[in-house]
Amino acid sequence: MADLSTTVNGLKLPNPFVIGSGPPGTNANVINRAFKEGWGAVICKTISLDAEKVVNVYPRYAKVRSRETNEIYGWENIELISDRPFEKWMDEFKQIKDENPDGVLIASIMEEFNKDAWIEITERCQDAGADAFELNFSCPHGLPERKMGSAMGENPDILSEVTGWVMSAAKVPVWSKMTPNVTHIEDPTRAALAAGSDGISAINTIRSVAAVDLETLRPEPCIEGYTTPGGYSCQAVRPIALRMCMEIAQVIKSEYPDRTLSGIGGIETGNDAAQFILLGSDCVQVCTGVMKMGYGCVKDMCAELSAFMDKHKFESISDFKGHSLQFFTTHADLVRRQAEAKAAKKSGKMVTADEEWTGDDFVEQSDALSRG
Ligand SMILES: Cc1cc2nc3c(=O)[nH]c(=O)nc-3n(C[C@H](O)[C@H](O)[C@H](O)COP(=O)(O)O)c2cc1C
Repeated sequence: MADLSTTVNGLKLPNPFVIGSGPPGTNANVINRAFKEGWGAVICKTISLDAEKVVNVYPRYAKVRSRETNEIYGWENIELISDRPFEKWMDEFKQIKDENPDGVLIASIMEEFNKDAWIEITERCQDAGADAFELNFSCPHGLPERKMGSAMGENPDILSEVTGWVMSAAKVPVWSKMTPNVTHIEDPTRAALAAGSDGISAINTIRSVAAVDLETLRPEPCIEGYTTPGGYSCQAVRPIALRMCMEIAQVIKSEYPDRTLSGIGGIETGNDAAQFILLGSDCVQVCTGVMKMGYGCVKDMCAELSAFMDKHKFESISDFKGHSLQFFTTHADLVRRQAEAKAAKKSGKMVTADEEWTGDDFVEQSDALSRG
């Protein structure tokens, strides 16, 4: 069986599957459970120094289902960061590390634009046993009203300044978690890396409106008749997450080769994870998938990733990390390659292009029709 263990910024993970920040890491009980089920690392639900400012509403989820199978493939939430007291969290960090001394516990943290607060939360979390940090620059709902979360992540100057504050106090690795709600993910990525961030996590949720109820005519999730745009996750976001991870990985590969990437967004299987690793991720995070399938799903994910690696004779994660990045090019280059392949075919040479029906026949026919 392939070796799934991986070292990310010096953190030794038994496998690349990490619990992403959210309900699956909401207290010590569930975090202990996650380690027992075999997760490679756990990121706690985002915490802040003053939980009294955090007031959640109910309902705060809206699910989008397949018309054919009724399976949930999209999930909107308007949940805030943790509303549990910071002192309680610090006690629980110690308890989690006592019970799982080898388990990698990552503290997801968020504060207002206040240097002292960011430094205090960093110091207190690492004193309580956090093995690494993830800076939440990315929650797209609720917190931006306090200029936190994605309000910081959308602004490379602020993101860079705050990352610098944390780096001045952190003695353990720091990842910056990106919001996808920007036009060019490379800009905040470069700001975080230039400020010293050891790694990038991407993506957080995509700002969304899940649905409008056609009986009540009210958008969902509906609180006293009203809603606010939320964050979209689950399988539906995976193609967008893969694209953004690819763009981040290209920046890391060419400009910051010693930094790392933790890929997130719609990962539910080992094959999903393999795709993120092929596009440059060092490890992957799962949040909504755990809410749908439970903590035990990590076993199936490991088995499927391992089978993929065996099939391709990859012995370790580093054997295939970033392998597929080389196959991205420009549209102009695709045109050139296709013209060359067609010319080679005409001249009787073998062509390697896949000749099976792919739906592109339809495109070719309609192109021909429109040409008359
Ligand atoms: C209900 C819910 C709560 C979340 N809370 C947090 C959070 O507190 N901090 C954070 O950084 N991300 C949070 N996220 C975002 C996830 O960590 C993840 O980035 C996103 O959902 C995409 O991954 P997924 O498709 O595996 O869920 C939350 C997601 C969901 C669905």
